[in-house]
Amino acid sequence: MNIFQAIEQRRAVKHYQTNKKMSEMDFKTLMDSVLLSPTSYNIQHWRFIRVTDVDQREKLKDAAWGQAQVSEAAELLVLCADVNAWKDRPERYVANSPKDTQDMLLPMIHNFYHEKEQTQRDEAMRSCGIAAQTMMLAAKGLGYDSCPMVGFDRDKVAELICLPDKHVIAMMIAIGHAEKAAYPRAGQLPLSEVLMENQFHPSNAE
Ligand SMILES: Cc1cc2nc3c(=O)[nH]c(=O)nc-3n(C[C@H](O)[C@H](O)[C@H](O)COP(=O)(O)O)c2cc1C
Repeated sequence: MNIFQAIEQRRAVKHYQTNKKMSEMDFKTLMDSVLLSPTSYNIQHWRFIRVTDVDQREKLKDAAWGQAQVSEAAELLVLCADVNAWKDRPERYVANSPKDTQDMLLPMIHNFYHEKEQTQRDEAMRSCGIAAQTMMLAAKGLGYDSCPMVGFDRDKVAELICLPDKHVIAMMIAIGHAEKAAYPRAGQLPLSEVLMENQFHPSNAE
């Protein structure tokens, strides 16, 4: 499957075959791909919870207002991020860069994030969003379907996964083999409505 086929065929699938699991080899290939996603300053602040425990799945399903994919899917991942990763041994993020690049980047990382809580959170969500799309496309490439999810009680999920302080939850992703195909596409906006050249047109900026 090429990348365009994966993009076209990825759909939000809500029901999964419960008897089909993901092999460990596929899971490793999936996560190795996810870890190649870009992050600003390469800080890789994402943290992933792979939910393998059946009881934990059921509790998370309750927290997600009973959405079937949470318990049915072969894999369930909760995508989180450490908003303080920028100051946690940042030399790791530039370890393979030349020394002069490291000397330039380390203060830049500090200045970019220091005392900027909104930026820390924005970047966490941005990075998890990019990782999520890599995950869903890689899953498709491996022959699996997926569903991104924010339809859950964030506080309950945080409690269930023991979310540490200074961490945020971006979303969950269910991955498995579809039991039911996704609904027809709900309605895509035309390119002309969402693409502008050089600047917002006055009528859009109102
Ligand atoms: C961040 C995000 C959160 C979503 N949350 C849910 C969810 O909680 N439950 C669900 O069934 N679908 C969820 N979806 C799926 C969307 O409804 C779906 O992606 C959208 O309707 C477009 O359909 P498609 O992904 O099949 O192209 C979510 C999608 C995104 C990107």
